[in-house]
Amino acid sequence: MDKLVIHGGKPLQGEVRISGAKNAALPLLAAGLLSEGEIRLENVPRLGDVRTILKLLAHLGAEARWEGTEEVSLCAKGVHCLEAPYELVKTMRASVLVLGPLLARFRQARVSLPGGCAIGPRPINLHLAGLAKLGAEISLEEGYVEAKVGRFKGARIYFDTQSVTGTENLMMAAALAQGTTFLENAACEPEVADLADLLNKMGARIEGAGTATITIEGVEALRGARHRIIPDRIEAGTFAVAAAITRGEVQIRDCLPDHMEAVILKLQEAGVEIHKEDAGVRVKGPDRAKAVDVRTQPYPGFATDMQAQMMALMTVAEGHCSITESVFENRFMHVNELLRMGADIRVAGSTAFVRGVERLSGAPVMATDLRASASLVLAALVAQGTSTVSRIYHLDRGYEALDRKLASLGAEIERVPE
Ligand code: UD1
Repeated sequence: MDKLVIHGGKPLQGEVRISGAKNAALPLLAAGLLSEGEIRLENVPRLGDVRTILKLLAHLGAEARWEGTEEVSLCAKGVHCLEAPYELVKTMRASVLVLGPLLARFRQARVSLPGGCAIGPRPINLHLAGLAKLGAEISLEEGYVEAKVGRFKGARIYFDTQSVTGTENLMMAAALAQGTTFLENAACEPEVADLADLLNKMGARIEGAGTATITIEGVEALRGARHRIIPDRIEAGTFAVAAAITRGEVQIRDCLPDHMEAVILKLQEAGVEIHKEDAGVRVKGPDRAKAVDVRTQPYPGFATDMQAQMMALMTVAEGHCSITESVFENRFMHVNELLRMGADIRVAGSTAFVRGVERLSGAPVMATDLRASASLVLAALVAQGTSTVSRIYHLDRGYEALDRKLASLGAEIERVPE
């Protein structure tokens, strides 16, 4: 297992290119199961979670191969296995995204329950209730969801809580249903809209994706298609914070500022200069950021996936602020590690109260989830002295070459075997 050794204090300078969105790549690859035709995806990020879903698709009998560095060709004609095993689902919850497509096309599926994970219980009850509403018979046996259905029948489904992968699973299931499905209080994330774009290119009839009401008129079959995955707004936001926290100036290329509005506005409120440009944004950090309150919300609110990174910036900001996590329980695993670097943070329930300090000091740290790890890397970039960030397989699950990209901007960061 590798770790990162980081010497803090270098302002980041230069240009960085943002990869395709992890959270779009995963459902779009799962959508390949809905058709016998070839799906060509461009701008696929090379990261751990993508490798995991490709492994799962291969396990089911789909053929997937990389074409060049960032294109994947996927053909699910030869699917012969309808089971997503525990070993794959436990490493990545998003594996549950194969449930809707498998049921829609093959009428049965067996998918391991994801179980608990570091950031709260994260159940899939809304996925299952929605699939049942579309006509699936579902039982839970030995830790697996076992489901079968004649053909899905369109229905009106209301989500008690907005769920990103829940919306995606049901949208894929309903694409091949008989009749029309209405998803109410659906997740509005750009990744949901990107999935609908691909599905529509495959012949689906989906309207309203990206809003809270999605209408899906079912069709008999879907065909192959080619699609370019949207840029990763969380990776782009992470680099924006990296520029801000190191008082650097970075051109973040190939991102869509419209998808990052809440993060951009919050960073500007904190005194960070951000200019939108044709192919991305230019970010310039102030001498010292100002403390600003943050509350995470579903899109278009401030993304929970940016909360830990924003907290890293707030630990060295001028003043004090509150950061409230309202999407997930237990998403403050980075706090104890930031404290070890000299941060001043107190957690009460779902709110962290952060008092900015003049400087952080380097320390050995590790984290138990993806974005928490990113926040420790950001803190290390500005800390005085040397930090080592362990367990970086979490980072590698969700960021493409984060260390190399940071190094290209002048960060003193090295990957070494643990
Ligand atoms: C997705 C993202 C993840 C992001 C999260 C919230 C992917 C692959 N992952 O995760 O990076 O942090 O959205 O933006 O896209 N819930 C239920 N029952 C369910 C489903 C969800 O109660 O059946 C709750 C969850 O516990 C959570 C909230 O709904 O409190 C939102 O979760 P959800 O949007 O489903 O997260 P994911 O789709 O797993």
